[in-house]
Amino acid sequence: MSSIRVAVIGAGPSGLAQLRAFQAAASKGVDIPEIVCFEKQDNWGGLWNYTWRTGLDEYGEPVHGSMYRYLWSNGPKEGLEFADYSFEEHFGKQIASYPPRAVLFDYIEGRVNKAGVRDWIRFRTPVRQVIWDDAANQFNVSAHDLVNDNAYTESFDHVVVANGHFSTPNVPEFDGLDRFNGRVLHAHDFRDAVEFKNKHVLIIGTSYSAEDIGSQCWKYGAATITVSHRTAAMGYDWPDNWTEVPLLTSVQGNTCTFKDGTSRDVDCIILCTGYQHHFPFMAEELKLRTANRLATADLYKGVVFSGNPRLFYLGMQDQWYTFNMFDAQAWYVRDVILGNIKVPDQATMLTDVNARVAAEDALSDDYGAIAYQGDYVKELIADTDYPSFDVDGANEAFYQWKKHKKVNIMTFRDNAYKSVITGTMAPVHHTTWKDALDDSMASYLKN
Ligand SMILES: Cc1cc2nc3c(=O)[nH]c(=O)nc-3n(C[C@H](O)[C@H](O)[C@H](O)COP(=O)(O)OP(=O)(O)OC[C@H]3O[C@@H](n4cnc5c(N)ncnc54)[C@H](O)[C@@H]3O)c2cc1C
Ligand SMILES: NC(=O)c1ccc[n+]([C@@H]2O[C@H](COP(=O)([O-])OP(=O)(O)OC[C@H]3O[C@@H](n4cnc5c(N)ncnc54)[C@H](OP(=O)(O)O)[C@@H]3O)[C@@H](O)[C@H]2O)c1
Repeated sequence: MSSIRVAVIGAGPSGLAQLRAFQAAASKGVDIPEIVCFEKQDNWGGLWNYTWRTGLDEYGEPVHGSMYRYLWSNGPKEGLEFADYSFEEHFGKQIASYPPRAVLFDYIEGRVNKAGVRDWIRFRTPVRQVIWDDAANQFNVSAHDLVNDNAYTESFDHVVVANGHFSTPNVPEFDGLDRFNGRVLHAHDFRDAVEFKNKHVLIIGTSYSAEDIGSQCWKYGAATITVSHRTAAMGYDWPDNWTEVPLLTSVQGNTCTFKDGTSRDVDCIILCTGYQHHFPFMAEELKLRTANRLATADLYKGVVFSGNPRLFYLGMQDQWYTFNMFDAQAWYVRDVILGNIKVPDQATMLTDVNARVAAEDALSDDYGAIAYQGDYVKELIADTDYPSFDVDGANEAFYQWKKHKKVNIMTFRDNAYKSVITGTMAPVHHTTWKDALDDSMASYLKN
């Protein structure tokens, strides 16, 4: 092993992709650096590692999890399949296209179990501070072993930040919320739709959390769903007890009034208002400051921090592509660290960032955005030995998904798509999503 040390912050899908990338090189005889992965939870999988907890955990740390019971993938698995580890390899058969959380967790875990990288991870060890030491030409990473209550600092030559960006909620204020007579929560704290059975639910926001949490509440028996938008309504053909209204302007008791002057009484308000990129542990000059978009600020090739090219951020983009994009990024970062890919000077890096921003700004619709992120995946893969795969085919799965959502937002998960890794068609699931109340792995795999 070389004397170079690499810190990876987070053992979610992005951080695990980084571990797998290095292990894949090692398995081909490459002399790899020492990798230390810091993970604040007690298991890997990131958001896919479900917890019932909300607020603070048993150590007083902010709970990372934003996932909830009954969550099924919101996009087809054919768009995220690992190119080096297919669903068929993991499950021994082809499975349906929209797996529930537990099934995807099992798949994520299967690859890294096979790679044997668990020993590289220090669980229950949040990183508290990362600073650059100019004199030593290294980063000082301070972490806290919570189990043994041991805070310590170690030096690293490279840092890969992979702590995700869907955990720290963006929580706007609305007039009268402090006097609302029901429960107010952010999507980050939503866990079980059964809680909202027979309730009148108001949702603020129109993106994936709004659509999916609303749909969960509908599926598990909410009385009505009202979705309030700031910019535009989602516009799907919703069920009869589902209404879209303009932005909430005020709350009085249980009565919510909207921008068009209409009002309705509700029992609870769920703020599906997105998340913040949050890096309290990074020194100010190393901190990524970006909006949730496809072309992140300050990251050359979407991963190399232009202010210090020994620092990398993974998975910080808004996401059509997920697991396979994190892989493309992780393989690229690995090859930069190994010296196989040279990073240009800062001005050239920023030119690259600006070009990506301009290209994203020129996109006119979601189809263009999917192709844009697909092209980005292709671009990174072309520079490494990550197994190339039919990205256009994965784009096509996303296009079909969008069309199926337009046809019927409550049945899109009943469709099946073709794997771009193995070429086989997924089976149609044995039960329609609406009627499949049991989201366990055993139930899903009963094909
Ligand atoms: C509700 C919800 C549903 C989603 N559903 C889908 C879906 O269906 N399909 C899909 O492809 N994507 C989905 N996503 C997107 C999701 O972002 C990715 O699938 C994926 O989890 C991102 O991986 P990540 O490793 O970048 O981040 P995360 O999964 O967030 O993992 C980050 C890890 O970093 C750790 N960490 C954080 N801070 C520290 C610290 N200071 N020190 C040490 N460790 C730290 C965390 O504990 C966590 O384990 C969903 C996201 C949300 C919020
Ligand atoms: N089943 C699943 O797989 C599933 C379920 C849920 C979430 N997810 C994932 O989770 C990630 C995050 O999705 P998200 O929907 O939470 O966040 P998001 O995509 O960032 O969307 C944020 C939403 O909040 C709205 N908003 C923000 N500030 C507001 C304000 N002050 N007032 C009113 N509205 C406001 C935005 O409206 P504007 O349009 O007006 O800006 C937007 O609709 C995505 O990657 C998604 O795929 C997946």
